[in-house]
Amino acid sequence: MKKNIFIVLLVILFFVSKAQSSIMGTPHDVNVMRNTNEELQVCAMCHTPHSKIEITPLWNRNQPPQSYTIYESPSFDMEAEEVLQLPSSQCMTCHNGVSSNLVNYPGPGSNMDTSYDIINNDPLFSSYSNMGSNLKNNHPVSFIYAPTRDVDNNGFPESRKVGTSRKAIVGSRGVYPLYGPNDNHFECSTCHDVHDTVEYPGKEINDGKSSGRQVFFLRADNTGSRMCTDCHTNR
Ligand code: HEC
Ligand code: HEC
Ligand code: HEC
Ligand code: HEC
Repeated sequence: MKKNIFIVLLVILFFVSKAQSSIMGTPHDVNVMRNTNEELQVCAMCHTPHSKIEITPLWNRNQPPQSYTIYESPSFDMEAEEVLQLPSSQCMTCHNGVSSNLVNYPGPGSNMDTSYDIINNDPLFSSYSNMGSNLKNNHPVSFIYAPTRDVDNNGFPESRKVGTSRKAIVGSRGVYPLYGPNDNHFECSTCHDVHDTVEYPGKEINDGKSSGRQVFFLRADNTGSRMCTDCHTNR
């Protein structure tokens, strides 16, 4: 009997999480970030339908150019770019600990709602998500994904087209998109979905309020490191 109730609860939880699945209520929702009573515009934190700058996809966040130290290691075989590429550099406009503001604030005229601005060392960011500018201590990004260059037999899958348009690394647990004009750049968003739309049972949010969401915006469930071994299939 108890077991049946448990199963029913699990099924309900699964459908509830399906219905809510989006950026709303995640740490990337400005209403969760700022915890205010007025309802701020969620997408505006990062996008605007009309921008003064030309950064895709319709980017709304401004910061003076920053330089980053890119990952290097003797056994890292794929071709790294010298500068951090899009969209990883977009993540860093918030995650680098340097102030940034909106290009186009929601609402009419000269309204500049500072709720959308991020100040240097914003208390919004706990130390772990303030990554600074040294990326040597982070999983490599901004390199050209080329499994044939790997001499350590990690067992990386070939990338392939998903649908008819863009390429991704397709694992048994998740789909990890590649970026750049040739669909071959491995970036932060290859592992993370900034909008948290990934669905699978058992995902949870760590804000202590909502349930049924993925922690860390990962593209697949990493229980037992199985997202890691989706790409590093021989490890
Ligand atoms: C925290 C920043 C952030 C917020 C908030 C955000 N986005 Fe995004 N969005 C990004 C980044 C970064 C990319 C590029 C990386 C990628 O495609 O995953 C992107 C890509 C996109 C794309 C193109 C790729 C795709 O997924 O189809 C669309 C469309 C989009 N966002 C719509 C939205 C909408 C609608 C909202 C509000 C409900 C929103 N975004 C909120 C950061 C954000
Ligand atoms: C508009 C600013 C902004 C942008 C742009 C942004 N983030 Fe965040 N992100 C935040 C904030 C604020 C938090 C909550 C920080 C904290 O709790 O320390 C967060 C938290 C996270 C977390 C931790 C989530 C959790 O479950 O605790 C991850 C992972 C993350 N971001 C990844 C990304 C990636 C990848 C990108 C780019 C594709 C990105 N972010 C772009 C503001 C941003
Ligand atoms: C190879 C996959 C992968 C890539 C690429 C990646 N991350 Fe993560 N990220 C993870 C995993 C897995 C976690 C959860 C770590 C844990 O459980 O402690 C995480 C956690 C985080 C967190 C939460 C705080 C922390 O450090 O644990 C933030 C913020 C974050 N990532 C941002 C980024 C940004 C920004 C980039 C690009 C510069 C990036 N990630 C690239 C896999 C990745
Ligand atoms: C979407 C595919 C993908 C996922 C998921 C992924 N990796 Fe990777 N990882 C790569 C690729 C590709 C490289 C670059 C390998 C090379 O060129 O030698 C790499 C590099 C590394 C390196 C550095 C290798 C070196 O020689 O310096 C380590 C360590 C690593 N990954 C661990 C992890 C861990 C731990 C996880 C899970 C949290 C993970 N990876 C998730 C694709 C992935």
